Amino acid sequence: MSGERFTAVPPVGREEGSRYRPSARPPVRLSACPPGGGCVDVSEGSYAGVFESTSNFTGGKVIFSQHISTAIKGARSAFRGPPRTCWSYGLLSLVLFALSACGSGERTRHEGTADDPWVIGMSQCNLGEPWRVQMDADVRAAAEAHDNIRVIFKDAQNESLTQRAQVEEFLEQGIDLLIISPKEAAPLTRPVAEAYQRGIPVIVLDRAVQGDQFTTFIGADNVRIGREAGRWVRERLGGRGIIVELKGLMTSVPGQDRNQGFLQGLQLERNPGMEIVFSGEMQWLEPNARREMESALATNSRIDVVYAHNDPGAHGAWLAARSVGREDEMLFVGIDAMPHEGQQYVAQGILDATFLYPTGGAEAIDVALQILNGVEVPKHITLGTRIFTEENVAAGGEPIESDIEEEHQ
Ligand code: FRU
Repeated sequence: MSGERFTAVPPVGREEGSRYRPSARPPVRLSACPPGGGCVDVSEGSYAGVFESTSNFTGGKVIFSQHISTAIKGARSAFRGPPRTCWSYGLLSLVLFALSACGSGERTRHEGTADDPWVIGMSQCNLGEPWRVQMDADVRAAAEAHDNIRVIFKDAQNESLTQRAQVEEFLEQGIDLLIISPKEAAPLTRPVAEAYQRGIPVIVLDRAVQGDQFTTFIGADNVRIGREAGRWVRERLGGRGIIVELKGLMTSVPGQDRNQGFLQGLQLERNPGMEIVFSGEMQWLEPNARREMESALATNSRIDVVYAHNDPGAHGAWLAARSVGREDEMLFVGIDAMPHEGQQYVAQGILDATFLYPTGGAEAIDVALQILNGVEVPKHITLGTRIFTEENVAAGGEPIESDIEEEHQ
């Protein structure tokens, strides 16, 4: 075969301030033209890439979709009608070629129509935390706008082994695409890779896995968020002060990244007047943060700032400080900035700053549809962030434009 050409339609914009750009999906025709003319349309579908190939064995030109379920459907209907000419066998070969030419993520079990919607498995690591309830709600709301997809939700109740088993269940069930927000990187890497290797497209959402055996990762840049938090703290302290850090789960990548970024932003080597006197792992949970903070308060007569890796953690710390009457002595900084959580804490004067960590739920559905329609998507899709403080919370926060890593290079 010669003359192959694949043109992916580049994603076009929606989310201002973020690098994520969902695409429009123009319709495509699946048609075959035998020598001497007389093109035959075998199917139509929504699609955003064209694979053109000039076939030697028919001597004609065949244009067909990357969207394999459409191709299969087209081939089926082409073969249903008599007579089975030699050129129609040529078409079968082409479809088989299309199947072999397409990498993982382009085979679907369902047609992607209202009668036979694509099935998306959504593996959530837990629903005990409000941010994750919001993520599932965002996925659900976005999916409801499309009658050609159906989402099945599973909640792993914060157990990596359960989440692993649930991914396996999804694979046995026969899903067309997997969205996963994994609890921890290492234990979920293999099940994700297995799904991907079986040809199921996988969208990893918010917490990363190891390696590159998935279709795409969607999430905000946690190193950058941590760095901005570190810079904010350094500037507010004027380079001098006593800091407590309450970390998320350190076997999850956001915990590692938010810690690393924070240290970069603080620039302790240039600001020896600042010190992290206490560092505890609260594993994203408010009650743990409260307990850790009680220890920090008991062992430190002065604390100027508490940086927690999420808003429940910052709130737990504030509760601990308030219970000993010390909450006004220090600043509290968190991450997530959900309207009814972090943003509200800032408006109430409980937190001094929080940074938006978008759930990515709506984006995951947009990207899932692109993948299912045969559009190639970037390997990493980075969502933007915003800072919320007393001054700007009523106005919806402010986008973060600068990046201090670049500033100081
Ligand atoms: C919820 C959560 C959020 C945090 C995210 C990190 O489980 O802890 O608060 O931003 O996970 O993955």
